[in-house]
Amino acid sequence: MHDIVIVGGGPGGYAAALYAHNFGLSVALVDDERPGGTCLIRGCIPAKQWLHIAEVYTTVSHAAEFGVVTSQPQIDWSAALARKNQTVEGLVRGLSGLLKNRGVDVVEGFGKLAGPGKVEVSSNEGSTMLEGRSVILATGSYARTIPGYDIDGTRIVTSDHALDWPEQPQRVGIIGAGVIGCEFASFLTDLGSEVHVFEMLDQIIPDSDPETAKALQRQLQRRGAKFHIGVGVGPAEVGPSGVGIPVGDEMISVDVALVSVGRGPNTDGVGLESTKAEMDNGFVKVDQDTMLTAEPGLYAVGDIVAGTPQLAHVGFAEGIAAVTHIATGETQPVNYDAIPRVTYTHPEVAEVGITQAQAAERGLEVETTKHAFNGVGRAIIQGQNQGHVKVIAVKGGPIVGASVIGPQAGEMIHELMYSVGWEALPSEAAAFIHAHPSLSEAIGETLMSAAGKSLH
Ligand code: NAI
Repeated sequence: MHDIVIVGGGPGGYAAALYAHNFGLSVALVDDERPGGTCLIRGCIPAKQWLHIAEVYTTVSHAAEFGVVTSQPQIDWSAALARKNQTVEGLVRGLSGLLKNRGVDVVEGFGKLAGPGKVEVSSNEGSTMLEGRSVILATGSYARTIPGYDIDGTRIVTSDHALDWPEQPQRVGIIGAGVIGCEFASFLTDLGSEVHVFEMLDQIIPDSDPETAKALQRQLQRRGAKFHIGVGVGPAEVGPSGVGIPVGDEMISVDVALVSVGRGPNTDGVGLESTKAEMDNGFVKVDQDTMLTAEPGLYAVGDIVAGTPQLAHVGFAEGIAAVTHIATGETQPVNYDAIPRVTYTHPEVAEVGITQAQAAERGLEVETTKHAFNGVGRAIIQGQNQGHVKVIAVKGGPIVGASVIGPQAGEMIHELMYSVGWEALPSEAAAFIHAHPSLSEAIGETLMSAAGKSLH
């Protein structure tokens, strides 16, 4: 008998397993592959490695603009792939070591709920039954597809395959311009592939600020990515030498179609039907204060949870919330209104809190203040002075959201995370001084303007 049995070893599950040591709880962690989940093995980490490879390539390509003379760089795709694999392997091994040090029993196999507190684990070696005082379900998500796009792993792929392409595809059609679609569009374009992006809605990264999304689209277009926005694609025509993607009267020919139309919950076959847990379209409903489902003792965290963002760091926070409740009976709810969301394109898009559209839905009267990067010294030094910072504050009230596009936006967003999380007034946040020269000065300037007194 363990205190907690966790099914799924991605960020939600492994964070719960690691955090439990704070309370001296015993944990079994079940996964049918090595712990790490989508994020570590075929998601965030490998994708960001590819994006960084593209950044290195771009930096060297533009070195002459800074008076640094080099020959034109070339991509050694297999060396780049090896670098990606090395990064993933190092982190996966590190995580296994950490789990071992914390005394977590890692059990390899497929876990299925088998009655209150019971999880049956099946593997090639047979099946075993684990028992826990509490169970946390953290089985993650899979890449969805659309009719007419049957995933074959070669001509029609998802990010699962695209992170492991053995060679660089020359022409890629990306279906869906969400976070995954835009990140692939960014690094493939920068590495020299011809990229077509198809999006059915009228905006890329549709949940983000429209002006920021437009700015990203413009920058990607300028570097060569082709966007087909507000269009439906017909069924793919797969031939021996490529794929035809029908859009309206046109047929776009590419070597490979990458489908990135969202991720579905891994909740089939895990035994939820035998519990009282309530479902919403395959996602698991929870009480967001505790992460408890309607089945006593059964918690759910991460990508399978209904109505919360599918982000690794949300999984971490939900795992912590569940373990805190199990250990103490106290709640430590996730503040979903202050979650940073980063799209690691070049340039990065980073947001926190609510957008203007969400503010309107909540009946909040807000003011937005914007400052461009073009006059920011450090951004000019780096040759990356395009983009903006936008801060959204309730009229006469606190900062409730922010949207940044520009160099290192994914790092800078965190000061605005504190502003939103602590419900700071613009005048309170603007009272602090930013270092000069720094990229973060763009935020300082925006906060000063939001407080009613601007500087530059
Ligand atoms: P997404 O939900 O972000 O975007 C899917 C896009 O596909 C949407 O823009 C949608 O309108 C479009 N779409 C849907 N059906 C379509 C069709 N038939 N034709 C054309 N477009 C269509 O999903 P995505 O990008 O697959 O990512 C999955 C999840 O993984 C997201 O929740 C995302 O937040 C997360 N993720 C987060 C990352 C990060 O934090 N940097 C990186 C990668 C993924």
